[in-house]
Amino acid sequence: MPAQLWGGQYRKSEKERWNEAIALRYSCRHFKLDIYPATLSALEYTAARLPVKGTRVVLAEIPENADLLIPIPFISSFTGVTRYAAVIADTAFQDPKTLAGITGETFVLEATSLGVATCWVAGNFRRSACEIPLYEGEQILAIIPFGLAEDNTFARKRKALRQLCRNDPATWPLWAYKAAESVRGAPSAINRQPWRFDFTGSTLRVSFPSLNSLDTGIALLHLTCALFQGSYRVTVQQKEHSLLIYQGETHDIV
Ligand SMILES: Cc1cc2nc3c(=O)[nH]c(=O)nc-3n(C[C@H](O)[C@H](O)[C@H](O)COP(=O)(O)O)c2cc1C
Repeated sequence: MPAQLWGGQYRKSEKERWNEAIALRYSCRHFKLDIYPATLSALEYTAARLPVKGTRVVLAEIPENADLLIPIPFISSFTGVTRYAAVIADTAFQDPKTLAGITGETFVLEATSLGVATCWVAGNFRRSACEIPLYEGEQILAIIPFGLAEDNTFARKRKALRQLCRNDPATWPLWAYKAAESVRGAPSAINRQPWRFDFTGSTLRVSFPSLNSLDTGIALLHLTCALFQGSYRVTVQQKEHSLLIYQGETHDIV
């Protein structure tokens, strides 16, 4: 996963805005009415402009009676969904899932900052019900239902930061603490929160079960947003599925 593929293409103002959205975002499963046409246009613009290479986002309406979302036991079923964003990746690219995670989360955070609720869905949807033409090699890796929230169900269930860290985050510099906190607030499939942190010397290590996953891409975008103010060097450790981040000028600026 080349570090320059993420973060570099976004403006400082966007990262600053998404940073604020991170604190407000939650997974919404109950929607009402449709969103305003001007908001939809802003989201169309976002979908067209923000995807990283090898990915795209297509906004679609759900035809009446389409069985797009599959109810699953013990999880609140979706209601009132009329629109979704399909997150599509070209599987010929390296780490397509991570790239799709970055792209999808830009859409989620931009939607949040526009007052539009979202929910990542990578599991319980029927790909055959998505009437979106794909190019050769492309796959729909997830859909993101979006719209106005019926109720504010914000209730962030997260492990304590200490549980995700190999040493005490209270002793870290503020930038590293903020970066870890930003990832801690990220959505993940089945709320697995698969990231782990470790700070030694002057380096923050962020580890993942895989460098090719939607969750990893989402975390990368959150890191990018948290570190929008300074200059940071990033090294990717392929074998360890980790990123090493330390403060300082280099070519790979987050
Ligand atoms: C990659 C990914 C896939 C997800 N897939 C589903 C899904 O298939 N169905 C669902 O109801 N929620 C899905 N979610 C939502 C997560 O359950 C939710 O993000 C997590 O429980 C944390 O809650 P929060 O987003 O409100 O912070 C997914 C989230 C992510 C990031």
